[in-house]
Amino acid sequence: MEFEKVLVTGGAGLLGRYVVGELQDRCTVTGLDRTAGVGGGRWLLGDITDIGAVSAAAEDQHAVIHIAAVPNIWSADPETIMRVNVLGTWNVFQAAEAMGVRRVVLCSSDSVVGFTVREGKMVPPLYAPVDLEHPLQATDPYALSKVLGEEIGRSFAARGMEVVVLRPVFVAYPEMADELRVRAEDPVRYRGSMAGGPSAAGGGPLWHHVDPRDAARAFRLALALRQPTFERFFISAEVTLAPEPTLERLERVLGREIEIRRPEVFRENPFAPLYDLAPARERLGFMAEHEQRHLVA
Ligand SMILES: NC(=O)c1ccc[n+]([C@@H]2O[C@H](COP(=O)([O-])OP(=O)(O)OC[C@H]3O[C@@H](n4cnc5c(N)ncnc54)[C@H](O)[C@@H]3O)[C@@H](O)[C@H]2O)c1
Repeated sequence: MEFEKVLVTGGAGLLGRYVVGELQDRCTVTGLDRTAGVGGGRWLLGDITDIGAVSAAAEDQHAVIHIAAVPNIWSADPETIMRVNVLGTWNVFQAAEAMGVRRVVLCSSDSVVGFTVREGKMVPPLYAPVDLEHPLQATDPYALSKVLGEEIGRSFAARGMEVVVLRPVFVAYPEMADELRVRAEDPVRYRGSMAGGPSAAGGGPLWHHVDPRDAARAFRLALALRQPTFERFFISAEVTLAPEPTLERLERVLGREIEIRRPEVFRENPFAPLYDLAPARERLGFMAEHEQRHLVA
């Protein structure tokens, strides 16, 4: 692999474990997390809000994959979300630049679009598929923290760093399988973590999802991307988990139609996600190999 030494922040977390697993036979991986990681490799315990800890971890590294974060609005209060996700991301870029790291791959989220959290004041998408030019309409602190993280990445890219931003949709970990089943059985009465999962079944009103094995592969491909300056990609399974086809569900949820810019996407694949996956396919070489519709059938 082009990068021999890769630092993975949040490497002990649910997604981080898959990413470390995907990389560990291909390069030397160092994990940085507040909690100890599983498996072999080199692990550093540290907090991303501590610039000293992040700088020490970034020393001698060729690339950084930044995954550590408060992963949703339910996991911390808004102040903590902004501190960890925004200041933490700033520290990672600042330390990476200071240590001469060439590339940072940033784990963002589809939440930047603003259409993931029902309880918040979601702003409907303007058109579908939602592409990289679509305005970012975040209204909740988590989504806003990810928008600001992307902007931090953009500013470091303008200073010469290679920055790749991945926007995974809701990651359907095996630990979430029962949540997905329970939600599908009775969506109206479903409340978060009813089935003992680490968080509520997510994916926004359209029930997007991506398998963690696919998401991890996307991070590996982001390291292999040739000469990026600042590039962003939506990362999703090829289908949603929703019972109705995407455009039908969208119209029901919004109570009206929206502009459909590429109807063939939904004609060829009625359960296609809201997001434009063409850049991931064409530039990153990523197409999801897994989907979890069997859980909700
Ligand atoms: N879970 C999803 O559905 C989803 C969807 C899109 C994007 N994401 C993003 O994926 C990433 C990973 O999320 P996850 O699902 O693995 O959640 P997770 O909570 O399992 O992992 C987050 C990791 O970051 C670590 N961490 C948190 N605060 C830290 C700090 N201050 N310093 C050092 N480490 C810290 C945690 O210890 C944990 O290991 C996050 O950036 C999240 O925003 C998640």
